[in-house]
Amino acid sequence: MRTVRVRVGAGYDIHIGKGLLSRCGELSKNAVGVCKAAVVCDSNVSALYLRAVRESLLAAGFEVVTLSFPAGESSKNMKTLTQLLEFFAEKQLTRTDCVFALGGGVTGDLAGFAAGVYLRGIRFVQIPTTLLAAVDSSVGGKTAVDLPAGKNLAGAFWQPALVLCDPALLGTLPAAEFASGMAEVIKYAAIKDAAFYGKLNPVSDLEAVIARCVEIKRDVVSRDERDTGERQLLNFGHTFGHAVELLSNFALPHGHAVAIGMCMMARAAVKMGAADESVIAPLAEAVRAHALPDECPFGAEEVYNIMLSDKKRETGSISLIVPTAIGVCERRKMPVEEARKWIDAALEGGRK
Ligand SMILES: NC(=O)c1ccc[n+]([C@@H]2O[C@H](COP(=O)([O-])OP(=O)(O)OC[C@H]3O[C@@H](n4cnc5c(N)ncnc54)[C@H](O)[C@@H]3O)[C@@H](O)[C@H]2O)c1
Ligand SMILES: [Zn+2]
Repeated sequence: MRTVRVRVGAGYDIHIGKGLLSRCGELSKNAVGVCKAAVVCDSNVSALYLRAVRESLLAAGFEVVTLSFPAGESSKNMKTLTQLLEFFAEKQLTRTDCVFALGGGVTGDLAGFAAGVYLRGIRFVQIPTTLLAAVDSSVGGKTAVDLPAGKNLAGAFWQPALVLCDPALLGTLPAAEFASGMAEVIKYAAIKDAAFYGKLNPVSDLEAVIARCVEIKRDVVSRDERDTGERQLLNFGHTFGHAVELLSNFALPHGHAVAIGMCMMARAAVKMGAADESVIAPLAEAVRAHALPDECPFGAEEVYNIMLSDKKRETGSISLIVPTAIGVCERRKMPVEEARKWIDAALEGGRK
């Protein structure tokens, strides 16, 4: 088992290791003490892993109550949030009790937000079951639900008391979900660690790879908990990626859109003179090695219009995360019109 310590707020440990799920009772007991455990998961994860978690918690002396909701982003809303809060109240959870978010990013965001507002905040433990949740959403303390007006519009910063990551659980993930998480893994190499690319094609030690991602996110987040500066580097590939995701009507999984967005940014950086050609190859190789797409199926005009409509309510400027060398990115704030040049640069000239 590897442990990464996060020192934001009261601080918490992220334990990563195969077989950790069956030890979740004992490890949680050390972190939060024996109490009432409200385990929240979605319908897919409930069928796969809820029983093991329940048994481990019971064996360690926890009282366990469980709630499962229909799997999918469409559950990440105020209605499910209300259901969770009412469930906690009905089960008489107190300030010394604890919520367990067992699942992917949807479960973590939803159950984390519910824990953050119930009784003005009770403790919660994250047990990520997707690669995306393991390397991204379970670290950093952002929780949220979607509103009809957009994704993640209502939320709170609420740090977990513990994160337990068992890479063995990722064995049941559909291949496309795993690949989607790999896009975020590749992102960490691109923004902070050139040598990390060498561990990715293929991944031979998943535990070590997850631990490295978590360390990088931990370091970035602890220097910028409230997302005003360095944390924005984690958006590498996401500005263009988000536009591509919307244009595909969410037919493209998030990570696939991010992979396209990262490759677009790398090509744009070279054309705009921010980086030399060498930034493209390691990124493109990693993306292709994980069967992720690298070409944008949409035109510059379409991408630009989405970015414009996304940003017009703000100040008219946009921050692009630009790769300037292998494993190094920087934030460049520019007027939205200037970003048009970057989109054109990304999309002209075809495949590299
Ligand atoms: N809080 C943050 O910092 C942060 C960061 C990135 C993304 N997010 C959020 O995360 C969400 C996406 O997370 P996600 O990709 O994990 O989605 P998800 O939670 O919906 O999980 C994806 C699918 O995989 C299934 N699944 C989960 N674990 C499984 C397993 N071990 N075996 C088989 N199937 C399994 C789920 O039931 C679901 O159908 C989005 O809502 C996004 O906004 C949050
Ligand atoms: Zn992402």
